[in-house]
Amino acid sequence: MTHAPQRSIQVVAHRGASEDAPEHTLAAYRKAIEDGADALECDVRLTADGHLVCVHDRRVNRTSNGRGAVSALELADLAALDFGSWKTREAWHGRDEEPDWEHRPEDREATSVLTLERLLELVADAGRRVELAIETKHPTRWAGQVEERLLALLNRFGLAAPASAAESPVRIMSFSARSLHRVRTAAPILPTVYLMQFVSPRLRDGRLPAGVGIAGPSIRIVRNHPAYVERLRQAGHQVHVWTVNEPEDVDLCVELGVDAIITNRPRAVLHRLGR
Ligand code: G3P
Ligand code: CA
Repeated sequence: MTHAPQRSIQVVAHRGASEDAPEHTLAAYRKAIEDGADALECDVRLTADGHLVCVHDRRVNRTSNGRGAVSALELADLAALDFGSWKTREAWHGRDEEPDWEHRPEDREATSVLTLERLLELVADAGRRVELAIETKHPTRWAGQVEERLLALLNRFGLAAPASAAESPVRIMSFSARSLHRVRTAAPILPTVYLMQFVSPRLRDGRLPAGVGIAGPSIRIVRNHPAYVERLRQAGHQVHVWTVNEPEDVDLCVELGVDAIITNRPRAVLHRLGR
C-alpha cells in the first residue's frame, strides 16, 4: 500500500471537523479550515420561519440542550439553544477519544445554531479556496422550498451560476433524486452528488439519475463492492465517498482512485495522504 502524497483526492470535513468539535457548529468548521480541509460538508434543513440551518437530525435533541423538530422551531428558538455542551470533555469523559477542542462559553457564536448564510460567510472569509458540499435533508417534506431557498441564498453569494461545474466551489448532495432534479432544473451548472446507502438494481451498471455528475457511495458500498467504483468512473462520474474515518478505508479509497473522501477527521486523513 502506498502512502505517497495524493493531492488529487479532495478531503471534505463531514459536518466540520466533527470528531473533535461539535458537529455543524462554527467551531467545527473553523477547525476544519485550520486543519487544512479542502471542502466542508453540511446538512441543511428549513426552520418553521423559513431559514436554512445546518443540522443533521430531524430533531435537535441529540446535539443541543433543547427538544423538538427543526421544522417546528423558529430560528430565534434555535438561537437560544446550546449546540456545543454535549461535546465537551466533561460530557465525553471516559470515552476512548475525547474531543480535541476547547469549549469557550464566552464565544457563544461558536456553538450556536449555524445558519447556512453564516457558513457561506465563513467560507468567503477563509482566505483560501474552501469548497462546500451542501446536503438537502428530507426535501420532500417542503415540496421544493428547501431547494428554492438554497438557490436564492447561493445566488446572493454569487454561487448559483458558476462558469462551469468544474469551477464551482459549491455542490449539492442528496439521497433524493427528486431534490437533485429540482436543483438542476433551476441551476443547471451547479454540480450535484447522488448519495447512496445501497446500490439500487437499476444503477448497478454505474449510471446515476439523469444529469447527476457525481456519485456519493457510502464506504460500506465501496468496501463490499470495490469494482463498483470503477464502473462509476467508466460511466464518467466522479466518486465522493462517505464517511471515511479509518486509515485502512482511506488507503482503499486511494487504491481505487476516488475523487473525494468525506471524513469526520480531516486532519488525520490529510496526514494519511501525506499532506
Ligand atoms: O456526506 C454524505 C453523508 O453525510 C450522508 O450521511 O447521515 O451523515 O448525512 P449523513
Ligand atoms: Ca450529511
